[in-house]
Amino acid sequence: MSQILDTLQAIPWWGWLLIILVLVSIRDIFFQRSHTISHNFPIVGHLRYWLESIGPEMRQYFVANNREELPFNRIERGWIYASAKKENNYEGFGTDRDIYAHQHIFVKNQMMAYKVPEGHINAIDKTFVPCAKVMGAYNNRRKPFRPKSIINVSAMSFGSLSAAAIEAMNKGVAKSGAYHNTGEGGLSSYHKQGGDVIFHFGTGYFGVRTPDGNFSMEKMKRLVEENPSIKAIEIKLSQGAKPGKGGVLPGAKITQELADIRGVEVGKDVLSPATHKAFNNIAELLQLIEDIAEETGLPVGIKGAIGKLDQWEELADLMEKTGKGPDFITVDGGEGGTGAAPPSFADHVSLPWVYGFSSLYKVFLKRKLTDRIVFIGSGKLGFPAKAAMAFAMGVDCINVAREAMMSIGCIQAQVCHTNRCPAGVATQNKWLQKGIDIPLKSDRLAQYFMTFRKEFLEITHASGYEHPCQYTMDDIQLNVDDNDLSRSLASAYGYNKTKVPFENMQKLYDCIYLGGKHCENTKE
Ligand SMILES: Cc1cc2nc3c(=O)[nH]c(=O)nc-3n(C[C@H](O)[C@H](O)[C@H](O)COP(=O)(O)O)c2cc1C
Repeated sequence: MSQILDTLQAIPWWGWLLIILVLVSIRDIFFQRSHTISHNFPIVGHLRYWLESIGPEMRQYFVANNREELPFNRIERGWIYASAKKENNYEGFGTDRDIYAHQHIFVKNQMMAYKVPEGHINAIDKTFVPCAKVMGAYNNRRKPFRPKSIINVSAMSFGSLSAAAIEAMNKGVAKSGAYHNTGEGGLSSYHKQGGDVIFHFGTGYFGVRTPDGNFSMEKMKRLVEENPSIKAIEIKLSQGAKPGKGGVLPGAKITQELADIRGVEVGKDVLSPATHKAFNNIAELLQLIEDIAEETGLPVGIKGAIGKLDQWEELADLMEKTGKGPDFITVDGGEGGTGAAPPSFADHVSLPWVYGFSSLYKVFLKRKLTDRIVFIGSGKLGFPAKAAMAFAMGVDCINVAREAMMSIGCIQAQVCHTNRCPAGVATQNKWLQKGIDIPLKSDRLAQYFMTFRKEFLEITHASGYEHPCQYTMDDIQLNVDDNDLSRSLASAYGYNKTKVPFENMQKLYDCIYLGGKHCENTKE
């Protein structure tokens, strides 16, 4: 024995290296059949797989130029990071964008900008920009809700995001007066940190589910009664990244806690069905909206990605006929994000936001229904100039998902579907989540929202307006093509939005339904 040990000890370090390489070569050639390259080129073949795996990081850090990457390029990410940290988010020497490029937009400035009068609410708070419409006002719901912020956290469930991320976001919206959409996974304790909540459910009915997987009105009522932070309810029909696909939560992310909240099994993929059990046609959807609103008193809306319009036309016809309908509609763009989706869905199914929203808005415009609905947009709109375009097209609020994730530290590693998110944002791994300092990250989200609103307001003032709701389709110009160099949105998309009733900012500030105040001001 001691002789064997002596022989092993006598082998120099390079001898060990040689032995390892020989063993790997034997394994590559004789014992593995799954990788042809390693078989045909033992040892060196491994380099290919390793280089391929670090390729995205290498390109992101060293190769890609500032405006090259998708979904969000370095300049966009940098703007969010700097805004969230209240650092210098300016750029020097002028734009690095090709401002003659196809689809580039221009916000038209006024000859003389809007001057904020002394004593004006925005002279005191430069970040105060609430929604100009009240959810549930037209339909006379018992608990109308005016979102206090025009930028809010979009649907992302506890499950696709970590507990630490959800908690940081909820605390962040509380600090910045925004609302937090729960996403499909139900209402967890991490959503109850003081922020206004929009409770969202999809085909899985997580949190409001009967044992056989249908919608439970009893649970819905109880949830709302027990949680006054819920200000509105959103029924998800589809989302831009995977319309008609149903939710996918990979088994790797299903911990005991998650399984308990959702009523599912640990470690098993959770696939929400593609379609709803609670309704089978538009009339039944409309009835469900009315029933939920009646039972809970809250405004009820729907979220969808836009493709074919015939069923939306049917909804609008029914709204016209019955005088009822959703209090808000969230329109998601095909460029929207997700925790996990097949690439063919994410890349090709449903229209990009501008095409989807403009088509849908026209459906309601044609029937003079637009003033009955609060329109919410989502799909990479978390940048002030993009938001100006969206407001000009008719939105009243925007929701942001990935921009909110970045504000709390997401580095766009694009591994939300693997449970290996290095930033601890989209994972259930306890060690990775520990990296999130919740108080700090909640400040960052709040600061991003406040910086966004301040800059958006500055752009609004530059255009001569007091509130972004005053933007019209003629205020934004769009590069089209060589013959027709640049057109207004009104001419490119063929409509003008309905004028949003607006007197002044002070009126919005004094509104009894503003943000979290509405619970003290119900009509019950
Ligand atoms: C991690 C993650 C999870 C999401 N989960 C949901 C969800 O549960 N329900 C839903 O309707 N949309 C979900 N979305 C879509 C977002 O709410 C949003 O509509 C979309 O990402 C567009 O916004 P963005 O461009 O600001 O990210 C999710 C997006 C991400 C990135």
